[in-house]
Amino acid sequence: MTLRELLGTELPLIQAPMAGVQASALAVAVSNAGGLGSLPCAMLSPDALRAELAALSAGTRGPFNVNFFCHTPPPANAQREAAWRAALAPYYREYGIDPDAIPSGPGRAPFTAEVAALLSGHKPAVVSFHFGLPAADLLARVKTWGAKVLSSATTVEEARWLEAHGADAVIAQGAEAGGHRGMFLTGDLTTQVGTFALLPQIVRAVKLPVIAAGGIADANGVAAAMALGAAGVQLGTAYLLCPEATTSAVHRAALKSEAARHTALTNLFTGRPARGIVNRLMKELGPMSEVTPAFPLATAAIAPLRGKAESKGSGDFSPLWSGQNPSGCREIPAAELTRALASRL
Ligand SMILES: Cc1cc2nc3c(=O)[nH]c(=O)nc-3n(C[C@H](O)[C@H](O)[C@H](O)COP(=O)(O)O)c2cc1C
Repeated sequence: MTLRELLGTELPLIQAPMAGVQASALAVAVSNAGGLGSLPCAMLSPDALRAELAALSAGTRGPFNVNFFCHTPPPANAQREAAWRAALAPYYREYGIDPDAIPSGPGRAPFTAEVAALLSGHKPAVVSFHFGLPAADLLARVKTWGAKVLSSATTVEEARWLEAHGADAVIAQGAEAGGHRGMFLTGDLTTQVGTFALLPQIVRAVKLPVIAAGGIADANGVAAAMALGAAGVQLGTAYLLCPEATTSAVHRAALKSEAARHTALTNLFTGRPARGIVNRLMKELGPMSEVTPAFPLATAAIAPLRGKAESKGSGDFSPLWSGQNPSGCREIPAAELTRALASRL
């Protein structure tokens, strides 16, 4: 079965779900252009999720993808939280922030039975996960309405695991990719390799269709991934400047600047490694730090710094997620970009 048959799309192109920088408008535009639009749900409340699902169903007749994180929420750890806030104390002083007034909290929610029940009313054609797959009973629930399940693999072992545990296609996420590493069987960053090294090895290791992701920015890159055995391509960074994305002003400015040439993996913003444009916080405390609380608990302590800095037009404390290849970012409608990306298929 081809990926197009599996997903029900005209094109083998997926707009990557990107929490924090897009909602249903981007997904609707891509699905209407023949690709698979994706809605990132990790940061949505149940009410917001309901509203976005309704907007997707009203906006497109094409299939779309809803994306969830499936991490295990860590227990609160007062000691680690205190150490993290101590590391940030000089910045709180600089911005006149009272650290005692900062609420702690998760910032990102995992996939749960409540969410599965909510989805069953909408029956999205595709459900994708980051950080592995949910528990078997939850996954079975998603499959009851015929949804196809995708998840990211960052190593050959993760791809084999996803195949053995019920994924319908595997996203080979190379190290170039923007945003969180989907890694879930290892925390060792030395295992993370580039897209064109990872893709052919995963294609050889599994029978499932393999979707290439990471650093692919234009029609030539899409064609090259297909030549290496990809059944489709998932692109995130390329869509960040589209008018339908909700990318913030500081993030857009950074993507358009020389600074975008230098990205790094950092755990400072959430507690898990993710790729973003190097900024002040990453230079001064990281990019990787041993002090951050477990994912996703690092976010809360950063939030007021981010807010204050952004209100002054600074991205010093913002997660400026981007892949290593921002050359495909264009300020054009997402439908136009999708068609351009497909022009060599
Ligand atoms: C701003 C941003 C946010 C992201 N958020 C998510 C997310 O919520 N869920 C997810 O599965 N992947 C997320 N990703 C990773 C993408 O799924 C994908 O692996 C990546 O965008 C591909 O590499 P590229 O950015 O070089 O195209 C994000 C990527 C970016 C750039």
